[in-house]
Amino acid sequence: MSGCKLTARVSGVGKALPERRLTNAELEKMVDTSDEWITQRVGIKERRIAAEGEYTSHLAIRAAADALEMSGLKADEIDLILVATSTPDMVYPPVACLVQKALGAVNAGVMDISAACTGFIYGGSIAWSMIRSGLMRHVLVIGAEINSSVVDWKDRDTCILFGDGAGAAVFSAHESDTEGVLSIKLGGDGRFDELLCLPNSGCRPFPEISGRHIVMQGNETFKQAVRNMYECAVSALECAGLTSADVSLLIPHQANTRIIGAVSKRLGLPDEKVFVNIADYGNTSAATIPIALCEALEQKRLKRGDVLVIDAFGAGLTFGAMAIRWV
Ligand code: UT7
Repeated sequence: MSGCKLTARVSGVGKALPERRLTNAELEKMVDTSDEWITQRVGIKERRIAAEGEYTSHLAIRAAADALEMSGLKADEIDLILVATSTPDMVYPPVACLVQKALGAVNAGVMDISAACTGFIYGGSIAWSMIRSGLMRHVLVIGAEINSSVVDWKDRDTCILFGDGAGAAVFSAHESDTEGVLSIKLGGDGRFDELLCLPNSGCRPFPEISGRHIVMQGNETFKQAVRNMYECAVSALECAGLTSADVSLLIPHQANTRIIGAVSKRLGLPDEKVFVNIADYGNTSAATIPIALCEALEQKRLKRGDVLVIDAFGAGLTFGAMAIRWV
């Protein structure tokens, strides 16, 4: 036994995106919008849309299989599978169970997490604490969504924003005083529960709203996103004894380039230290951060010793950030 602290590192990542691309030009034919408005106000050029019969579990399984392969682990070494989603195939069984079956992860506990767009960070925090406490060694955390199933395709305020996709990361035990997950900040503010909702998705009926689709007060949500993402990032860094000057890469939730720009500016981070891929996928809710993490690694934007901050915000309100020294 070394005298080092037990912490977690990311040992594998994966992503899965549907084939079908929905471009701004196509949306121009569906609602009163324009490529120019969407590009300037939100930063999205296209988003992926699931095929008929393609569900959240399918994307989650593909992303998870890639993350597992990269980690070099066998499926039966996974101790826990967490799927962050607001668009599960069904409320139960949890999507995590379907992933467990497909991978053959026979020794894993299974649970879905409902924390909207912040779900992957909540999952990562559970993974970290399970590993830190010595209870578990390998936790698979997935963010997966079929947002196209809950979008009102006649509402230009929201239908241009969202896309489908999944990302996954394996968190594995690592002994170090300086590397791996350094800190976490989780938060919420239920006073703003009405800013972003998915009515008719649970036991409470909303007769005034026909069907089940996202309802959002965009402007106020925007302001709350900037404030809370900024504060969470600062808190997570403070907990780790760091400041934003130490950050090598920020991976923020991809909801709007103007939100990302405002948070980065407040943190004093130049563009090259901020990962942005919203143009390609739109807002994939709980999947934005693990998809972006996967692409940041593909693009060699992270090397050993770098300080990575992942930072998210979502309906609830929920928010959270995690600081990791990459290893
Ligand atoms: O995943 C986490 C949660 N989600 C978010 O964080 C999203 C946060 N909010 C936002 O990203 C932005 O508020 C939106 C992108 C949703 C909207 O941008 P905005 O700059 O806040 O626009 P707005 O709602 O203030 O609307 C400005 C104008 C309005 O027209 P008028 O009233 O000025 O004539 C809207 O009707 O833009 C209009 N508009 C559009 N125009 C063309 C709204 N949506 C569209 C559209 N195409 N798709």
